[in-house]
Amino acid sequence: MIGRVFGYVSQRVPSLLYRVSLTMKPQVVFVLGGPGAGKGTQCSRIVENYNYTHLSAGDLLRAERAREESEFGQLIANYIKEGKIVPVEITINLLRKAMEETMQQDEKKFRFLIDGFPRNEDNLEGWNTVMDSKADVKFVLFFDCSNEVCIDRCLERGKVSGRTDDNRESLEKRIQTYLQSTRPIIALYEKLGKVRTVDASRSVDEVFGDVKAILDKEG
Ligand code: ADP
Ligand code: C5P
Ligand code: MG
Repeated sequence: MIGRVFGYVSQRVPSLLYRVSLTMKPQVVFVLGGPGAGKGTQCSRIVENYNYTHLSAGDLLRAERAREESEFGQLIANYIKEGKIVPVEITINLLRKAMEETMQQDEKKFRFLIDGFPRNEDNLEGWNTVMDSKADVKFVLFFDCSNEVCIDRCLERGKVSGRTDDNRESLEKRIQTYLQSTRPIIALYEKLGKVRTVDASRSVDEVFGDVKAILDKEG
């Protein structure tokens, strides 16, 4: 009887330990910057070179907007066109699901670039409520460039992107939202010593050179 119990335990323990060791706590880098600063472009480069999964809050919201059964489609469409930040209850669920699905598919994929989040206080509160205990935020990667560069890049992107917000009218609102709501969040992380700033006004390759230096050091 005892032998059978021990036999059972010794067979079970290694597999349990193995599973625990594989289930890593998600490691998160928040990626912030103005509209068109190059967040998505640089995240793609990072994914090509490092073991990170890129989750763009904007992309997730656009996908939810397009999902036929979604009860939030119209609300998201209005917020995006107006350059306003969607209530975090919606965004955090999309992010949480995407992170869980990624880790379920491959337990080794526990490093995430969360692009375009947290963009305001509501976003940050939502993260702290739902995710803070579940994931470690390593640092904020901040792509810094002037509003003019941001606007020019988005207008250029607007020629092909089909986005409802890559036009001058929406862009003015997006820049205001960025200055009024997102910059204070970056300042808050700055006080915690958690911001890594990159001059994003240069070429894609030059910007990525700085990104690489940061990730090689602490990524
Ligand atoms: P974000 O995700 O921050 O809104 P994107 O990565 O989508 O920005 O880039 C916005 C537009 O600017 C895209 O058309 C992209 O090809 C272009 N772009 C990105 N980085 C640079 C750069 N360093 N120099 C010039 N154009 C860039
Ligand atoms: O990051 P991206 O430019 O794709 O975001 C586009 C729009 O998506 C934002 O202007 C905003 O309306 C919405 N968004 C949001 N909350 C986020 C990220 C994006 O409401 N955290
Ligand atoms: Mg983007």
